[in-house]
Amino acid sequence: MATDWNPSLYLRYADERTRPARELLARVPLERAASAVDLGCGPGNSTELVAERYPDATVLGLDTSDAMLAQARERLPGTRFERADIGTLAADRSFDLVYSNAALQWVPDHEMLFPRLFALVAEGGAFAMQMPDNQEEPSHSAMRETAKDGAWASKIGDADKVRARILPAERYYDLLAREASAVDIWRTTYHHVMKSAEAIVEWVSATGLRPFLEPLDERERADFVAAYTARIDAAYPPLADGRRLLRFPRLFLVARK
Ligand SMILES: C[S@@+](CC[C@H](N)C(=O)[O-])C[C@H]1O[C@@H](n2cnc3c(N)ncnc32)[C@H](O)[C@@H]1O
Repeated sequence: MATDWNPSLYLRYADERTRPARELLARVPLERAASAVDLGCGPGNSTELVAERYPDATVLGLDTSDAMLAQARERLPGTRFERADIGTLAADRSFDLVYSNAALQWVPDHEMLFPRLFALVAEGGAFAMQMPDNQEEPSHSAMRETAKDGAWASKIGDADKVRARILPAERYYDLLAREASAVDIWRTTYHHVMKSAEAIVEWVSATGLRPFLEPLDERERADFVAAYTARIDAAYPPLADGRRLLRFPRLFLVARK
């Protein structure tokens, strides 16, 4: 059975993870919004920013993780949170702002998904999303290499398939431009200063590493993490002060209806 997300592990790097949420919201060209939805709201860190920016809006947070939803409800008791899968959302509601930070990379088939999400935007509203674009970074290629290179290979299978393939920026533009009055796309590469190789492993263990570890038993997990950590240690050599720099590209998109 799939294990649930771990909100406290996820929030260990809350500042770094929430920064793109803030930078995305800063580019949303709406002075006012009466309604907003946060898709893949997680522990409510991104929802909180949306609610602060639009204090008069009815804000709804959606997620599939019970643990994340519980944390979000505790954080924002006045906000509505519902269990819902972004991939199968009914198009019977509309919102001035459809917002999603660091979640759509977990939802397959962006060719279908993005036009469907844009259809949820009310006339004059906006769709704003950010996704990690790091599948080709050593942090993630090392997961795939470790998966192939051990007794666990058949158990894991192609764990990377769990994540959606990020399309080229041009494709996202083409998917939305016909229905949009403006599309703004940008890519930012953050360089996070990390204490150690283990800290990088801890960072991804709350997110990208989950599907690789899920099929393994406890012993295999420990062995996998040790083998993966050795690869990370080599791929992110120590800086002059011994710390490591985690390169982390993210793709941003804001489309106005
Ligand atoms: C990396 S967290 C992002 C949390 C928060 N939005 C933030 O800005 O930090 C990704 C969240 O997406 C949720 N998620 C993944 N797939 C989903 C889906 N198909 N439908 C709804 N939520 C999903 C996960 O449960 C998780 O809480």
